[in-house]
Amino acid sequence: MEADRASRIKELQKEKDVVILAHYYVDGEVQEIADFVGDSYYLSKKATQVPQKNILFAGVTFMGESAKLLNPGKNVVMADECADCPMAHMVTEERIAEVRGEYDDLAVVCYVNSTAEIKAVSDVCVTSSNAVRVVRNIPQKNIFFVPDNNLGRYVAAQVPEKHFIFHDGFCHVHKSIEAEHVKAAKAAHPDALVLTHPECTADVIALSDFVGSTSEIIDYATESDCRKFLICTEMGVFFELQQKNPDKKFYSVGHRQFCPNMKKVTLDKVEAVLAELPKEGTPEKALVLSDDVMERAAKPLQRMLELAK
Ligand code: 13P
Ligand code: SF4
Repeated sequence: MEADRASRIKELQKEKDVVILAHYYVDGEVQEIADFVGDSYYLSKKATQVPQKNILFAGVTFMGESAKLLNPGKNVVMADECADCPMAHMVTEERIAEVRGEYDDLAVVCYVNSTAEIKAVSDVCVTSSNAVRVVRNIPQKNIFFVPDNNLGRYVAAQVPEKHFIFHDGFCHVHKSIEAEHVKAAKAAHPDALVLTHPECTADVIALSDFVGSTSEIIDYATESDCRKFLICTEMGVFFELQQKNPDKKFYSVGHRQFCPNMKKVTLDKVEAVLAELPKEGTPEKALVLSDDVMERAAKPLQRMLELAK
C-alpha cells in the first residue's frame, strides 16, 4: 500500500480518536492498516481494552454488535454496514423459547455468530476458540447449541458428559469445503498437515490434523516444524499465515473458500468511513441497539469472557 495512504488513514484515526479492529477474513490490505487483527474471541476482548472513543470494525455485523454490547459508552461503526454473516440469522427466538419449554436444567449456548436479539435470549456466548472450555464450565446438563450445527457437534464430541440439542444453522463457506476436496488435496500434497476450522463438516474434521479458530490455525502453523499445510477455512487467513511464515507453503482445498460478506470490506470503504466521521459527538452511522437488547445481550457475552478465562 502507498505510504501516503497509510499515513492519511493514521492521521484521520488520530484526529477522530478511532481504533481499527479487523478480522482475519478481510482483505490483506485492510489487515495491514488495522490496529488489531484477530479471531472473534480476541477481537471481543480487545474491544474492552482499547482507550479510543470510536471503534471502526472491519468485519461482519455480529462482530461490531459484540463490540458495542461490551462497550455501551463507545461508538462502533462498520467499514461496510451490509457485511453480515448469514449464519447469524439461522435461529429464531421462537425456536429457543420452544426448546426452553421442553427441557429442565437447560443452557442456551449461542455461538457469537448470531444477532444481538438471539444473544439477548441466550445464557452464554461462545466463539470457536473457547466453546469447549466454556461449555465444560456451565453447570447445566442440557445444552441447546445455536445456530451452528457443525461447531455444536464438534464441541459435543469433546464434552460427552453433557446432553446436546443441536440446531441446523451452518456457514455456507465452510460447508462448501468437502471431504472429497480434502482427500484430493492430500493426494497432491501428501506431506502437508490439514488445518481446519470447526465450522467445517464432521467428515472434513475427521481428515484433519488440527482443528481450531482462525488465530489457532495461524499459531499452529507458525509453531509447527512442518513446511506445508492444507487450509480448510476462509482464504483471508492466508495473509497472516504467509506474513508470519514466508518459507512455508499454504494451499486451499475447496473452490469457494471466500466469504462474500467479509470481502465487502475494502480499504476504500475504511478510508471513506473514517473521512465521514465527525471530530466529536456520535457518528450518524454508529451502531444502535435498543436499551433492552443492550442490557440482555451483554450478559451472555460477559459470561463468556468470565468462563473462558
Ligand atoms: P473465528 O472466531 O475463528 O475467527 O471465526 C469467525 C468466523 O466467522 C468463522 O467463519
Ligand atoms: Fe459467517 Fe461463514 Fe462468513 Fe464466517 S465465513 S462470517 S461464519 S458466512
